[in-house]
Amino acid sequence: MFSRTAALSRPSNTLFDSGMAPETAYQIIHDEAMLDGNSRLNLATFVGTWMEPQAQQLYSDTVDKNLIDKDEYPSTAAVEERCWRILADLWKAPSPDDALGTSTIGSSEAAMLGGLAMKRRWQNARKAAGKPYNKPNLVMSSAVQVCWEKFAAYFEVEPRYVPVTEEHPLLDGHDVDQYVDENTIGVVAILGVTYTGAYEPVTEIAAALDRIQAATGVDVPIHVDGASGAFVAPFLQADLAWDFRVPRVVSINASGHKYGLVYPGVGWVVWRHVDMVPDELIFRVAYLGGEMPTLAINFSRPGAQVLLQYYNFLRLGREGYTEVQQACQDVAKYLSDGVGSMSAFELLSDGTDIPVFAWRLVDGYTDKWDLHDLSGQLRQKGWMVPAYPLADNLADQTVMRIVVRDGLSLDLADQLLEAIEASVNYLDNLESPMPKEGRPSPGFAH
Ligand SMILES: Cc1ncc(COP(=O)(O)O)c(C=O)c1O
Repeated sequence: MFSRTAALSRPSNTLFDSGMAPETAYQIIHDEAMLDGNSRLNLATFVGTWMEPQAQQLYSDTVDKNLIDKDEYPSTAAVEERCWRILADLWKAPSPDDALGTSTIGSSEAAMLGGLAMKRRWQNARKAAGKPYNKPNLVMSSAVQVCWEKFAAYFEVEPRYVPVTEEHPLLDGHDVDQYVDENTIGVVAILGVTYTGAYEPVTEIAAALDRIQAATGVDVPIHVDGASGAFVAPFLQADLAWDFRVPRVVSINASGHKYGLVYPGVGWVVWRHVDMVPDELIFRVAYLGGEMPTLAINFSRPGAQVLLQYYNFLRLGREGYTEVQQACQDVAKYLSDGVGSMSAFELLSDGTDIPVFAWRLVDGYTDKWDLHDLSGQLRQKGWMVPAYPLADNLADQTVMRIVVRDGLSLDLADQLLEAIEASVNYLDNLESPMPKEGRPSPGFAH
């Protein structure tokens, strides 16, 4: 029975002695969640916030499926395999039948698996050669997403960060010989740097590693962190070689829940060849009276998101994905044009790689306000646009970033530009500088 006592409920960190009517519990939580931001106006996140009603229906139909129960849900297991095989093909695996892949809970788990496979392969090769194998390192840009720092910390691999600088804002192979040695398990190349959306040039990184191999014999593989870009580049930059066309690329991860256009909870990792994954990382689970290889850090996890990924593959096809990503990119370019033409700002990227762009305040523009203040002003108008420091050597620079996702129309973009202009006007005309205390903590690149 519905009860108005919901009005009396208080958040509690202890379990109540008795329960309540389902309608009441629903209402309380529904109302509390109402105070969260409006996800459609959240321009900070890469993660999907909208799917079609038929996908919503499929989601609620399949929400009970545990992906690991391959025996109980063989069709879901088959769909999972079909999805990663589609990705292996999309990412130009030379022989998709020999590829290996798996779904994950997101790109972070996928990165852990890609990193682990590289670590084990390196260790096995070192053991076989009678060489020490206790000091693995991984080379990557200092602008990597935090999942790679986690990988290094959790799996005891020394992270070697190549600093981003004004001259080299991306990992592009320069100086990489100073970081790579015989203990390097691999190099991470990012397709769509979290901070700016820019692609790291995978072929240039590979060329630098070719030179190192020619000079020293050390043969270093590349893992591409395509969290966002691996679902964009195949459709918008089809001629760009960043994938398995580059022979050094052994594995690629992507977030199904970013430009794969699925709700949160699905990522993918694919290896060029099954041999790239040492056998000891593969476990066998019961499947139709037999067994099926699995490769995952989690055991139980939702199967519905995998089905939603397949829904998008069926529903959109190449044409549909191209159309959606192109629309996002058109809006990103429109917005970056608008922001770039304001005298207060200069662009760091313009949305021509993934539909994401970042900008900073023109040096010396004002000492009355900064981008955190602008972020606060936009928040008051409902828009969530994060301001955060760049990585490492560039950490003294604050930038703002907009991630254009499916559903941000040109109409909304116009309103956003108006909101930015109005906020800048307001801040410019303040009598005194904005106070620095008590403002919200800076956003972070995620
Ligand atoms: C480049 C990159 N790698 C990895 C991740 C982590 O992805 P997920 O949130 O799917 O775990 C992100 C998230 O933004 C990212 O931008």
